[in-house]
Amino acid sequence: MNQLNRRDFIKLGGAGVAAGVASMTPTSALATPESHNPGATTLPYPQTAVAKAQSLPQNKVVHFNYPDESSPCVVIRMGHPVPGGVGPNMDIVAYSTLCTHMGCPVSYDPASLDFKCPCHFSVFDSEKMGQMVTGQATENLPKIRLEYDTSSDSVTAVGVDGLIFGRQANIL
Ligand code: FES
Repeated sequence: MNQLNRRDFIKLGGAGVAAGVASMTPTSALATPESHNPGATTLPYPQTAVAKAQSLPQNKVVHFNYPDESSPCVVIRMGHPVPGGVGPNMDIVAYSTLCTHMGCPVSYDPASLDFKCPCHFSVFDSEKMGQMVTGQATENLPKIRLEYDTSSDSVTAVGVDGLIFGRQANIL
């Protein structure tokens, strides 16, 4: 048989070759643009017109669906700037209305500015990017990413931050 024993392998520089392969693997296999931004998404989110900013009532929800017809959402013009808000006053935000605990539809309470779930009483903060305040849910309410076009006064949905309840991916 013509097999290399350990000594022959070393004489042939096998150790150097093995070390070279080992040192190349991490960088050559993982050096992609996405690896520098772990939050980046490659999901093909649609761009969906939501409303004209000036037409949105203050502190009231307007219903729409995003990223598809089976995903209910609301947009709110808070009336004061909030984190993640868009529009002329940086006060327009949008969320999925499916509770992240078991998918019950949450309701907006204009007095407390929170979303409340009637099923097991989870509460989410509309002024803090859907952050869970209390209750059975363990995830924040998914926030719909919005863009605002000054020239047309248009608010457009362009993505979702957080996983919509019941889905393995936000785009089915
Ligand atoms: S479904 Fe909302 S708290 Fe359980």
